[in-house]
Amino acid sequence: RKKVTVRTLLNMKKSGERIAMMTAYDFPTAKLLSDAGLHVLLIGDSLGMVVQGHDTTVPVTVDHMVYHANMVSRGADGPLIVADLPFMSYHASLEVAMRNAARIMQEGGAHAVKLEGGREMAATVSHLVDAGVPVMAHIGLTPQSVHALGGFALQGKTLASAQRILDDALALEAAGAFAIVLEAVPAQLAALVTQRLSIPTIGIGAGPGCDGQVLVFHDFIGYTSGYIPKHNKRFADLADTIQGAAKAYVEEVTNGTFPEEAQTVRLDDDAWDALSL
Ligand code: KIV
Ligand code: NA
Repeated sequence: RKKVTVRTLLNMKKSGERIAMMTAYDFPTAKLLSDAGLHVLLIGDSLGMVVQGHDTTVPVTVDHMVYHANMVSRGADGPLIVADLPFMSYHASLEVAMRNAARIMQEGGAHAVKLEGGREMAATVSHLVDAGVPVMAHIGLTPQSVHALGGFALQGKTLASAQRILDDALALEAAGAFAIVLEAVPAQLAALVTQRLSIPTIGIGAGPGCDGQVLVFHDFIGYTSGYIPKHNKRFADLADTIQGAAKAYVEEVTNGTFPEEAQTVRLDDDAWDALSL
């Protein structure tokens, strides 16, 4: 399978081909999604919520991202592999941002990093890009700022905040970002940003007018017992499948029907006779 690069994504935008991106956090998922034809795999810091069980992405560290990126990069063969720079790993200084991006690429095996924020991140983006780190930007709802925003709410509803999101997108493109995630913004705004930019937009809760879409794997596959955001579409219901299988297992173990002869190894008769006489 042909490798997807940042250049592939730019060409896809030019030719009007939509980009399919999905989060992945481990080897088997990365392998399955890669073989299924995903263009981009994201080791999202959403793993703090869907894998680690936290309420927000704030507790996720660079070590966690490196650990998961490493598993994903061993499973994926073809998709562009992007990993989030987690909360507070790129703000203290340009040097800190650079060192953490380097860890995620060198130890984690990612091809690119993603970071949250608008024009205030432009200097960081261009610093990383100048060093050969491809950067995907992320604006609209930026979950690492959940405590500053006061919750996970739709962004860009007023004229002023919609204008700010459009200007942020232009500033990030000018800074050298190769793509921008638009999260939880009105569809018309996302379509307008998409039209004004020459780099691809990837939407989540941003309507159909983006150049691509991204979903969180566990929400997409219904592999969760918790809250699922409104923008998510469940393409499968893994929770039911897993629980059904687990209930059957408990039943078969407790009533003695598992293991069956097919899962059992026996001594040959001579050995058994000698042993048990
Ligand atoms: O962490 C994540 O999964 C993300 C996507 C929702 C874009 O940032
Ligand atoms: Na994220």
